[in-house]
Amino acid sequence: MPGTKDHFPTILIVDDDKSNRVLLTEILGEDRYRIVHANDGEEAIELLENGEVDLVLSDVMMPGLNGFGLLRELRKSARTKTIPVILMSAQAGEESTVEGLDAGADDYVAKPFSARELLARVRTHLELARVRREWASELEQANKELEAFSYSVSHDLRAPLRAVDGFSKLLLDEYGEKLDEKASHYLNRMHAGTQKMSALIDDLLNLSRITRAPLRKELINLTKLARGVIDELQEKEPWRKVAVEIASGLAAHGDAHLIAILLVNLLGNAWKYTSKQPEAQIAFGQQYEGNETIFFIRDNGAGFDMACAGRLFAPFQRLHRDSDFEGTGIGLATVQRIISRHGGRIWTEATVGKGATFFFTFRGER
Ligand SMILES: Nc1ncnc2c1ncn2[C@@H]1O[C@H](COP(=O)(O)OP(=O)(O)O)[C@@H](O)[C@H]1O
Ligand SMILES: [Mg+2]
Repeated sequence: MPGTKDHFPTILIVDDDKSNRVLLTEILGEDRYRIVHANDGEEAIELLENGEVDLVLSDVMMPGLNGFGLLRELRKSARTKTIPVILMSAQAGEESTVEGLDAGADDYVAKPFSARELLARVRTHLELARVRREWASELEQANKELEAFSYSVSHDLRAPLRAVDGFSKLLLDEYGEKLDEKASHYLNRMHAGTQKMSALIDDLLNLSRITRAPLRKELINLTKLARGVIDELQEKEPWRKVAVEIASGLAAHGDAHLIAILLVNLLGNAWKYTSKQPEAQIAFGQQYEGNETIFFIRDNGAGFDMACAGRLFAPFQRLHRDSDFEGTGIGLATVQRIISRHGGRIWTEATVGKGATFFFTFRGER
């Protein structure tokens, strides 16, 4: 019902000092917001479990679970991780602000603050959260459309493709003897074309699946996984001699299935684009920057022009010709989605003729 408090955004004020809670309630105004109170972090979590909260305004220093602890707990749960959190503290200065924001707060205000400033910040964060919710629902809609699209791709495109493939094979089997060399060659080319298109459809379906499947995170032994991928590549091309160096003890928290696809693509690329290099080398390792672990996969293969690096991660973008290196151009688009679903980043460095390195991170690594 319009006009009732149910339609007001709900703000949860967390402060162990009662007079502060009263003051904040006064500033925010109960005619604009529905306001609920908690004495400390634990009580706040209980309240959050039981009802809808649109924004949390929390003191940092509290007995029991303090503001940072509360923030960490909120970010852990899917249901509460998008709620905007504004931390308040008596500690002024750049350092404590940075600490608050680093901990994942949406905003940080130092006491004493002006009523107008606090109100403006609360309004801004509620508005931002509303816009984010709108985006999320648009994205969900787009994903549903994509799902419908890939379904039609698999069923509508595959059937005629099978017909082309099947009949060209029949033609070859039943009339092969009557065909001259040129005609057989054309038929073989047709067959290769259908194979390529079938691979494209598979890759495209894989790509759309990656966006949809829920993530199941666990600790993954990347060293072992990478070894397995390389062994398989070697088995398929036993004649190739590649010096592969995989650091020991590489590990990450992630979805085992998706991380395997990631390594298959990145190591597969390194393997493929070194195929014309007589002394091929591939390395998989890690380095640290600040408290972030950066993984890298480096090769000394064909490389590419860095001016084109921005295009690499878009579907169907290839920097090499099919006649030089075969491919569908979907691998890196898939890799990027996997990385972004894990909250990480990926970037490259390359030189034409000298090789390429792909760097990537996963969120929450140390
Ligand atoms: N290790 C690499 N060395 C050189 N070029 C690469 C490497 N990895 C990817 N690329 C370039 O990026 C493009 C996109 O990669 P990808 O999406 O995996 O497609 P594909 O391997 O099917 O061509 C490739 O076509 C190639 O031009
Ligand atoms: Mg590839």
